[in-house]
Amino acid sequence: MWPRVARAVIGIALGVVAACSASGGRPAAVDAGEASFTRLRHEMVTRQIAERGVRAPAVLQAMRDVPRHRFVNPGDEGDAYEDHPLGIGLGQTISQPYVVAAMTEALEPRAGGRVLEIGTGSGYQAAVLARLCRAVYTIEIVPELAERAARAFRALGIGNVHVRAGDGYRGWPEAAPFDGIMITAATPRIPQPLVDQLAERGRLVAPVDEGSQQTLYVYRKVKGKLERDELFPVRFVPMTGQVRERQR
Ligand SMILES: C[S@@+](CC[C@H](N)C(=O)[O-])C[C@H]1O[C@@H](n2cnc3c(N)ncnc32)[C@H](O)[C@@H]1O
Repeated sequence: MWPRVARAVIGIALGVVAACSASGGRPAAVDAGEASFTRLRHEMVTRQIAERGVRAPAVLQAMRDVPRHRFVNPGDEGDAYEDHPLGIGLGQTISQPYVVAAMTEALEPRAGGRVLEIGTGSGYQAAVLARLCRAVYTIEIVPELAERAARAFRALGIGNVHVRAGDGYRGWPEAAPFDGIMITAATPRIPQPLVDQLAERGRLVAPVDEGSQQTLYVYRKVKGKLERDELFPVRFVPMTGQVRERQR
């Protein structure tokens, strides 16, 4: 169910071609809709994210800043700030806000850093990372989703995210090394090309498919090898493509 306020506001924003606001030249109803989404987003950060233990101020601010409702399917905007993942079509999902925030905090992105994401999906996670580091490279195996995400970045004026359609298994060698790598689909193992493209002391966050369950891990590259810490159980759509082929 959509929160009543959000439903009403979307009804107004979509249904009324109202007088323009004095300052921005946009319809007043659109400004009212954006203000309501901003309020919902601030509530989301307080109740779903900060109260569950995400502490990094920059991550909390990025979650307050990125308009999640611009990354969900048309008609789902009123659900964008609810405490669960949402379908984005083609069998894929935009992750639960808390999971996005916790994975971002675990990656420890730095202002000057460069990050690779495998599994662009809606583009929301990449947009959050884009507020915290210099450049984000993101790869999506479903071409329609890659195109849709690229359109969302353009519409929002997000210029530091590079999108590629393809299998993320091989990473983005021309842009390596990366200070951080995030995989946002459940993988049975960490592909070796991604380990190779992670900088020494870099961090990699990934949900690992362990058969009957999935666990989120944070890895650190130390002397060329990955060391890992367990975070919490998760449920992600599977990483597909070459990672599912038998190892040669
Ligand atoms: C849970 S969704 C990602 C959510 C996304 N990060 C967001 O913010 O909306 C997982 C995505 O990974 C993509 N995916 C699965 N296997 C992949 C692969 N081998 N390479 C790149 N993308 C892949 C799926 O198509 C799907 O869009």
